[in-house]
Amino acid sequence: ATHAPLHEKNCTSITPPYDALIENLSQVRRHIKSKLTLAEKILYSHLNDPSKSLGDGGKIRGQAYLQLKPERVAMQDASAQMALLQFMSAGLPQSAVPASIHCDHLIQAVDGAKTDLERSIISNKEVFDFLESAARKYGIEFWRPGSGIIHQIVLENYAAPGMLMLGTDSHTPNAGGLGMLAIGVGGADAVDAMTGTPWELKAPEIVGIHLTGQLGPWVSPKDLILHLAGKLTVRGGTGRILEYFGPGVFDQSCTGLATVANMGAEVGATTSTFPYTPNMRAYLHATGRAPVARAADKAAKSGFLAADEGAEYDQVIEINLSELEPHINGPFTPDLATPLSKFGEFVKEQGWKDSFSAGLIGSCTNSSYQDMTSVADLARQAKSVGLTTKVPFLCTPGSEQIRATMERDNVTATLEDVGAVVLANACGPCIGQWKREDKKSEENAILTSFNRNFKSRNDGNQLTMNFLASPTIVTAMAFSGKLSFNPMTDFLPLASGEKFRFSPPSGKDLPVAGFDLGETSFYPTTTPEPQPETEIVISKDSQRLELLEPFPSHFKGGRMELPQMKVLMRVRGKCTTDHISAAGPWLKYKGHLTNISENLLITAVNDEGGEVNVAFDHDAPQGESSSDTIPGVAKRLKSRNQPFALVVDDNYGEGSAREHAALQPRFYGCAMIVARSFARIHETNLKKQGVLPLWFADKADYSLIGSGDVVETVGLAELLKNTPGAEIKLKVTKRDGQVIEIQTKHTMSADQLKWLEAGSALNHIRSQMN
Ligand code: F3S
Repeated sequence: ATHAPLHEKNCTSITPPYDALIENLSQVRRHIKSKLTLAEKILYSHLNDPSKSLGDGGKIRGQAYLQLKPERVAMQDASAQMALLQFMSAGLPQSAVPASIHCDHLIQAVDGAKTDLERSIISNKEVFDFLESAARKYGIEFWRPGSGIIHQIVLENYAAPGMLMLGTDSHTPNAGGLGMLAIGVGGADAVDAMTGTPWELKAPEIVGIHLTGQLGPWVSPKDLILHLAGKLTVRGGTGRILEYFGPGVFDQSCTGLATVANMGAEVGATTSTFPYTPNMRAYLHATGRAPVARAADKAAKSGFLAADEGAEYDQVIEINLSELEPHINGPFTPDLATPLSKFGEFVKEQGWKDSFSAGLIGSCTNSSYQDMTSVADLARQAKSVGLTTKVPFLCTPGSEQIRATMERDNVTATLEDVGAVVLANACGPCIGQWKREDKKSEENAILTSFNRNFKSRNDGNQLTMNFLASPTIVTAMAFSGKLSFNPMTDFLPLASGEKFRFSPPSGKDLPVAGFDLGETSFYPTTTPEPQPETEIVISKDSQRLELLEPFPSHFKGGRMELPQMKVLMRVRGKCTTDHISAAGPWLKYKGHLTNISENLLITAVNDEGGEVNVAFDHDAPQGESSSDTIPGVAKRLKSRNQPFALVVDDNYGEGSAREHAALQPRFYGCAMIVARSFARIHETNLKKQGVLPLWFADKADYSLIGSGDVVETVGLAELLKNTPGAEIKLKVTKRDGQVIEIQTKHTMSADQLKWLEAGSALNHIRSQMN
């Protein structure tokens, strides 16, 4: 490996233009007299036109639509494909803002870092070549496979206090650990920023989380967010920013705050942020960004990097860190939070086997130097009494910088000594890229320090119960193999007949000898000057990449309502973006809309019949079965040019920023989705792709529409004409001919209606450019 000092990094760390941002904010303050939260300061200082009033003194939060200018875009390899295919079709010569691509999701964990990386580079060559050539052409920084996970790299290199950035991944808020607003979006939103189009966000409400007290031994920032997830539930953060304040913020490391911000995504929050702290300054220095730290210090003096004294929050949640204990959340949902001391009892009550089959640590959520030195401390204690882990114990470092520093400081050797396998610096098992040979279709439990635990997420096995905990709890429990083991109180038996109990782990925030950059050939090699002569090759018969055809507008020939739609199905219960567009083996088709659409809703439950991946084609020709898979019926409708609608349950599209979950239904001809409620990012993604999302005014009406019914919009025309107060009703013709009317609500802004009219946001942008 070539080792280079930090200042030799090729990537561009850009100091936010604090003077300009502070000036923008002072313009906004002419219209807004109230004290501002930190989140509002960051949002308003990034307004496209700060001189324009945000409303006539009315409530801004939760109501006004903000037109924003983000400073940076980051994309991971799976979502970047579609983002770039969309950007390419806009026809611009370069990205309007600094942008980066990170190769992390496509690397499969099989048997260890080196071979896994080599194998994945070969099997994904076509995609990595495409991403690299697009990066070169448009002046985007390209982080090669092996460089690390997007959010860790962003924190180490690009994040800066007070900045506003977008990332095509739902855990983009991780960068909030450096006191900024980092927001997870779909590729089409990234295209807004990359084409210089103002990015629209409905002003979120701001929840203040007041931290007092001090974390006790064994308790880490991960436990704070696991606890909060239990309190807020997976919907509690929807349409809201979580802004932490109070003395408890200042005791946490910058990377610890990043973990908390990362998992704000699990409660559906738009993002999370913290006031600028001395620990953030130390992290900026340690990661080679002293100029950013100095500029932030200066900006902080003007009050820009913290809330105004007396600023009001929409809700304040008090958390006394001294009262927190470690938590274990799951299975299958991140908000099922159980304090460690009650977990053994909980396992017993549920009748689960008191064992787990693997412990996994690391990922973008928890692979900081502090996390890794803390787990190494436990491994050292265990080794000194001759213990090794009882279950497979896997570790994914978040970046090459972390991996190399772990290796240099003996952390890796310490973990390997007790049985750990260190995987490539990539997402791996966190996104189902785990070639797990044991427990293929058997009920079992795993413990991870990751952030998400929907069914099948890690190993593709529906029967794997996945629990989330801090890396130290996962590690300590891996020496027992039992779910009921509480490392704070319980002893482990030793071969000598004696008993051993762990001392609380202790780690270091930052490496005393500084970070080691490791293998610098993974890092961006070119300065991000666009090279327009670069050819982007997509082979005609590629199974991985396909150029995008613009979606047609629904409003041909002067039509002002959506065309008549058939209802494809009524989806029952939890339907995350994982249900709508599964990951794992499907990740390889992210750049090929036709191929990936074969997985549309394949794990969703049909409310009419209760089966998974079964739908009905009520117009099936005689002799053909009406029952088919969900993509099967969607394809039949597409072949008949029959637009369709979906009826869905609460919090539809929760989980990730995966825009394929919007692109795929649209590809088959979905024009409208009517939900009990939507998750924010997904609802926006639907709007961007020209699908109309509607909310039932009365949630009970959900069961009134079923598959095969014909639905028409009534009132959309008025809305498109900008008639104030216009509402959309649905005229539903049931299969037996009965006609009913259903009241709905919508969240379409004036701009979003233009996207709908054009067929997609991209069609609209393109029309503006011509
Ligand atoms: Fe990757 Fe999992 Fe994070 S998929 S970006 S490590 S949430």
